[in-house]
Amino acid sequence: MLSKVENLSEYFLAYEKSVANTDTFWERVANQFYWRKRWDKVVESDFEKGKAEWFINGKLNITENILERHLFTIGDKPAIIWEPNNPKEDNITLTYKQLHQKVCEFANVLLNNNIQKGDRVIIYMPMIPEAAIAMLACARIGAVHSVVFAGFSSSALADRIIDCEAKMVLTSDGNFRGAKSIGVKSVVDEALEKTTTVEKVIVVERTKTPVTMKADRDLWWHNEVAKVDANNKAEEMDSEDMLFILYTSGSTGQPKGVVHTTGGYMVYTQYSFQNVFQYNTDDVYWCTADVGWITGHSYIVYGPLLTGATTIMFEGVPTYPDAGRFWEIVDKYKVNQFYTAPTAIRALQAYGLEAVTPYKLDSLKVLGTVGEPINEEAWHWYHDHIGKGKCPIVDTWWQTETGGIMISPLAGLTPTKPGYATLPLPGIRPVIVDPDGNILKGNGVQGNLCISHPWPSMIRTTYGDHERCINTYFSTYKGMYFTGDGVKRDEDGYYRILGRVDDVINVSGHRMGTAEVENAINEHPKVIESAVVGFPHNIKGQGIYAYVICDMEGRTEANLKEEIRATVSKIIGPIAKPDQVQIVSGLPKTRSGKIMRRILRKVAEKDTSNLGDTSTLLNPEVVDEIIKGAQ
Ligand code: WT7
Repeated sequence: MLSKVENLSEYFLAYEKSVANTDTFWERVANQFYWRKRWDKVVESDFEKGKAEWFINGKLNITENILERHLFTIGDKPAIIWEPNNPKEDNITLTYKQLHQKVCEFANVLLNNNIQKGDRVIIYMPMIPEAAIAMLACARIGAVHSVVFAGFSSSALADRIIDCEAKMVLTSDGNFRGAKSIGVKSVVDEALEKTTTVEKVIVVERTKTPVTMKADRDLWWHNEVAKVDANNKAEEMDSEDMLFILYTSGSTGQPKGVVHTTGGYMVYTQYSFQNVFQYNTDDVYWCTADVGWITGHSYIVYGPLLTGATTIMFEGVPTYPDAGRFWEIVDKYKVNQFYTAPTAIRALQAYGLEAVTPYKLDSLKVLGTVGEPINEEAWHWYHDHIGKGKCPIVDTWWQTETGGIMISPLAGLTPTKPGYATLPLPGIRPVIVDPDGNILKGNGVQGNLCISHPWPSMIRTTYGDHERCINTYFSTYKGMYFTGDGVKRDEDGYYRILGRVDDVINVSGHRMGTAEVENAINEHPKVIESAVVGFPHNIKGQGIYAYVICDMEGRTEANLKEEIRATVSKIIGPIAKPDQVQIVSGLPKTRSGKIMRRILRKVAEKDTSNLGDTSTLLNPEVVDEIIKGAQ
């Protein structure tokens, strides 16, 4: 494979080339794909305007590069292997040929239902093959997909539908998760009461949960597919046409729609997938993420399928029917590359080795982690007990906004160090800056992580509000993309990600904005004011700690705490439920009325020995009360 780096010196060489001659470097990678028309210029960018364009005027369709490009060479190779929630149910394998057929059919269903190039389609589905088929069918006709994680509440779903003015929602009757069966269509129904743009809803039958089908709006997936054939010519897309929108939390209240486009995203997700995981032709690759997150987009669907890989899609949870489920699946399909989150590793580690020892795990060659810093203990457990000491761990740092993996070892090539994402991929130029924006050169430095030059899969805008994109990512440090993460570069030049430096909490690898959680808490009629901070949590990495001022009349503390947690769950979803709620009579504020989160964070961390100077506060007396009342 042309752009696969095969050893460490090739990596260093590729890196040097990517810096010395960026255009030629990416052109060689892009040449591997099928373009209906070649680009005129590789890249044009202006970070001060939050602008980057790649493979300018190139014309292509990303699904032709996933499907047609592979039909004659690997048409009968499994593209997607789907493993159901219940191990007793049959699995499903879709070869590249079969996937091609299903995507073409569903593309025709979309067209039949008045979806055109540029329209936005929301996908609110469990981890079933139809979720991937739906994404690719949208891409095939040039519709913009926006996948919303099926654990989000109806109001979170409604917010996203409203923000992108979606014309259609693709969903299922229900979702099997472990021992539970959860209604999904009913959540969509509730969301659509608040929105006006959705014309049609197409529903996959999965759990056979009874649903109400609204006349003239709701259609069954299987009925629609029965009406079409599999002849579909992919729409010609511009390299910079929008491929998808994915909503993510930031430090302000409303989630933002991160926009990715076609050409650059295709080139970078394929390149990074192949190189980070060192995928070989017959390997079986498994990423345990959900397609509702960027990891699912780039490293379950697009990156692997663009590479012609076999990618596993798992419907269930790591602990059902027992805590050995992941390892059972690894043995069942002889998985070679396994990619998961530190929170899953820690959760499974807590069940003890009894859940691991029944399995051989001898097919594994590469282990990956993503989403949050991995603690050394979890790293060693993963390395020793899952990888049996012989599988390199790729600790991959990246973000929804970066589209693909940015800093990571290349499996088996880059020497690893527990807790370190190690070195940037070719084409990626990280810089460390101090709070004043001075670039810290050399090794043994620590500061805020920025990226100084454009890369193909970077964020293009935040949907409908480019100013917000500029303000969030390109204004803190002029001329650079700011990641929101703190980082250290050690004496060997290796990068260690230290976590967010903004008001974002990383709960089990998922981003939650403190303002977003506070807004949800404040919806409770008894709540007067609230402040949310993160605190260290054994399994989740970070937990959510909420300080709330309430009108207590007619309520006990215990009732109120439960009601507040339920409110957050209803407004955002169960992932945002605070782990701790402390009722307080006041919040520590500066004289200008700003909440001193630093103090709240220390109390939540149970580290009150050094709170700093609290005498300048407007209300220093609340600090003692808060410390006394802390859980
Ligand atoms: C934030 C991005 C990118 C896929 C999943 C999360 C944190 C991500 C690592 C890692 C330490 C990491 C960062 C980043 N993060 N990977 N390997 N080590 N921290 O995507 O929801 O956009 O979150 O996750 O803080 O900014 P996301």
